[in-house]
Amino acid sequence: MEKLTGFKKINSAVFISGTGSNLNNLLKFSTLKKSKIKINLILSNNHKAKGLIFARKFKIQKKIINYKITSTAEKKILKLLKMNEIDLICLAGFMKILSKNFIKNFKGKIINIHPSLLPKYKGLNTHKRAIENNEKFSGCTVHYVNSRLDGGKIISQKKVKILKNDTPNSLAKKILKQEHLLYIKALKKIYSNL
Ligand code: GRF
Repeated sequence: MEKLTGFKKINSAVFISGTGSNLNNLLKFSTLKKSKIKINLILSNNHKAKGLIFARKFKIQKKIINYKITSTAEKKILKLLKMNEIDLICLAGFMKILSKNFIKNFKGKIINIHPSLLPKYKGLNTHKRAIENNEKFSGCTVHYVNSRLDGGKIISQKKVKILKNDTPNSLAKKILKQEHLLYIKALKKIYSNL
C-alpha cells in the first residue's frame, strides 16, 4: 500500500491525558490514503484517559505510563518509541512536561497543539484568561516542542473571535473544532515536501 502511494509514511505516536478528541481526529486522518503519517502508538500517563477508547476503535497499540518518577517514565517512553521506530510525536492534551533531555532525543520531532494564540497565554486556563483580559480574539496554535513551555517554533495558527457572551466553556468548544482542522493543516505543512 505504501509503495503504491509512492511514499513511506511517518511512524507516529500520539500522547494524551484526557478526552482525546484531537487523537480521534489524528487517527481518522491517518487512515486516509493521502495521509503522510501513520499512528503506531498511543501513550498516556493516565489510565483513566477517555481518549484511550480510540486505541481499541482504531486497533492501535496503547501504553499507559506510570509517571510517579518522571525520569523512569521517560526512559520507558524512549524505549517504546525506539522499539516502534517512531519518528514523530504528536502531543494532544498531554498534561506532563517533557524534560530537556527527552526533547533532545527527539529534536524537531515533537509537536503540540495549544488552545491559544501563542505566544499569548502559555500554560493552563487559556480561555478564562483570554476572556478576563477582554481579548477580541483567541485561537489555537500547533508548534514544535522545545524546552520552554509552549515556546517552540510556531507551525500554524488559527484565530477565533471571542463573542461578548462567550464563557471559557463555549470558547473552548469553538476553539477545539478549529484545533482539529489546524492539527491536520500543520501536519500537511510539515510534510508537504514528501
Ligand atoms: C485541547 O484543547 C488541546 O489544545 C489542549 O488540551 C485539549 C485536549 O483536548 N492541549 P482533547 O483531549 O484532544 O479533546
